[in-house]
Amino acid sequence: MNQNQKIIVAIDGYSSSGKSTLAQEISKKLKYIYIDTGAMYRSIALLAIQKNVFNSDLWNITNFIPFLRNIDFQFQWNKTLNKTDFFLKKKNVQDEIRSKEVTNKVSLIARIPEIRDILTMKQRNFVNNIHNKGIIIDGRDIGNIIFPQSKLKIFMTGSIETRSYRRYQEIQKKGELDSYEEIKKNILYRDMIDISRQISPLKKPIDSIEIDNTSLNPEKQLTRVLQLIEENISSKKK
Ligand code: DC
Repeated sequence: MNQNQKIIVAIDGYSSSGKSTLAQEISKKLKYIYIDTGAMYRSIALLAIQKNVFNSDLWNITNFIPFLRNIDFQFQWNKTLNKTDFFLKKKNVQDEIRSKEVTNKVSLIARIPEIRDILTMKQRNFVNNIHNKGIIIDGRDIGNIIFPQSKLKIFMTGSIETRSYRRYQEIQKKGELDSYEEIKKNILYRDMIDISRQISPLKKPIDSIEIDNTSLNPEKQLTRVLQLIEENISSKKK
């Protein structure tokens, strides 16, 4: 593939459907910048937990919003672990934002319109400030809202059993003890909130290409998307 030709790839999809694994592999292979928008929602959930927003009245969220106006996010490539690290206010919070507590609260944060507005603006700024580099950006509203002009939109899905089992294996590696049934319940709950929220719900963009991880393993997903990127770049040259 001609590494000098770069595009913006938008990946949306259900929780635990393999979006970030796929995005990181593409980013490594093609040296694209990876923007993980879920990490941004997660870091706001982390901040809300630290500020006790959930223990007070969630509808007092207006007191919390001003903290977010100048919030500082950064992504940095971790050469040792070969993955992207996420920094909130200069602190590496990559592990904290994947904790169970954050995972359980993040969908509640992601449905608040003021928070979505702030992050929408930040995500568009991130993309607009990157020049001459390929970008891969994943989330729930990328193809429909954040970057509808993207020429390559991927929508990732998978059966609830495949996604739950995937997550169960990840959690076991971390040494946590949640049962498969608990994880499945949590994924179904998050899907329900993501699909049904009023603002920017998770919805397959009509011009996206669906990748179902029930039938395609990670290697095949990667091969398929690399092929789609290549086709996209060649069609632009014509
Ligand atoms: O992809 P993830 O599991 O890290 O996302 C965490 C949560 O944030 C998930 O509940 C959906 C929400 N989210 C969102 O609403 N919009 C995005 N662009 C990214 C994530």
